[in-house]
Amino acid sequence: MVQSLLRGAKLVLALAPLCASLASPTTARAQPTSEVLHYWTSGGEAEAVKVLKEAFEANGGRWIDAPVAGGGGDAQAAVLRARVLSGDPPSTVQIKGQNIHEWAAAGTLKTLDDEAEAGNWDALIPEVLKRVVKYEGSYVAVPINIHRVDWIWSNPEVLARVNAEPPRTWEEFNATAEKLKAAGFIPLAHGGQPWQDATLFEVVVLGIGGADFYKDALEELNEDALRSDTMVKVFDQMRKLSTYVDPGFPGREWNLATAMVMRGEAAMQIMGDWAKAEFLAAGEVPGEDFICTPTPSNNGFILNSDSFAMFRVPGEDVAEGQKLMASLVLDEELQRAFNLLKGSIPARKGVSSEGFDPCALQSMEALASAEESDALVNSLAHEIVQDGAVRGAFLDVITEHFNTDMSSQEAVNLLAETVMLAR
Ligand code: GAL
Repeated sequence: MVQSLLRGAKLVLALAPLCASLASPTTARAQPTSEVLHYWTSGGEAEAVKVLKEAFEANGGRWIDAPVAGGGGDAQAAVLRARVLSGDPPSTVQIKGQNIHEWAAAGTLKTLDDEAEAGNWDALIPEVLKRVVKYEGSYVAVPINIHRVDWIWSNPEVLARVNAEPPRTWEEFNATAEKLKAAGFIPLAHGGQPWQDATLFEVVVLGIGGADFYKDALEELNEDALRSDTMVKVFDQMRKLSTYVDPGFPGREWNLATAMVMRGEAAMQIMGDWAKAEFLAAGEVPGEDFICTPTPSNNGFILNSDSFAMFRVPGEDVAEGQKLMASLVLDEELQRAFNLLKGSIPARKGVSSEGFDPCALQSMEALASAEESDALVNSLAHEIVQDGAVRGAFLDVITEHFNTDMSSQEAVNLLAETVMLAR
């Protein structure tokens, strides 16, 4: 807490001059104002978004906070849709992947090419993110982070009770989970919500099928891949995972599952590195109180990334607010301070890795090597790849399978049919 306040204060001081450069000397500028619609309400998420809010205010901005609780963002997306349709969009929105393109295609987003030029975004934003935040050649959003989805968060004390280490293969995962269950522990802390079930699914697709299969099935929607024996094996593993969760999992928020690992009620959670922010916010030390290991796969990396988009809302104060926000998000100091707390790594290229914890350093290295070996894939559960309709089709089948005794073959048939209909 104090650390982040100190960092916030230091950041405020470091970024204050930014205000000076944006202000024109003579004319009375409208106060930069942004209503920010986001869903960062868990302990760790709230710490991180506060850094951005403080920097915005330190530069003379008026931040109107519009949080929508509900991890994964489906509730926030519903609020956004309702507000746009009722002609009252918020000015600044936390948004990801295909949603950016869908809203840009609908003509609701401002282009940020002037801010991009002034901020040298072409040089600062990696190619893997440019295709997410650009639409028809223009910048329509600005990325704030890179989250890795495919992580296991383990409680070393609980694992030690069955003489186990964090598993490196799915066979090891299942063997350890069986031992944990036999010893009366909850092997897998999980929240029964479609996006969380889909997070497990995409991690298993990468682990069982590999990056090429992941791209074929989840990115290219190749029907043969969706109907393949490999996909049957994926659902076999999902069935196993469904036997490693506790009876209380339905509807549970992701951060409450993280807290079960923290308290030693459960041994492991499979979740993106926003989970790390919960451990850090609770003062837990990576490598001691909790361990981060990639889920079993061959050098893969599942990318998720949050961005901010500016909706077309009239008013000079709003325009000033959007300009200020766009110029802050990729600022080097802000990138450091935000991502140190958020559990992600910077979206901006060239930010020093000094001060980042071992999990973040692992993520940085894994991203670079996955890019090199063409094993970098885009998250389906977190909307980096596939639009709402196709994603919805996947989530429906994955969740139905996870919560029923549907066979793997039945799930494969239903998945292929539903996805082919939705695309
Ligand atoms: C993801 C989002 C992350 C994290 C997570 C849990 O979709 O990109 O930043 O917040 O949801 O809410």
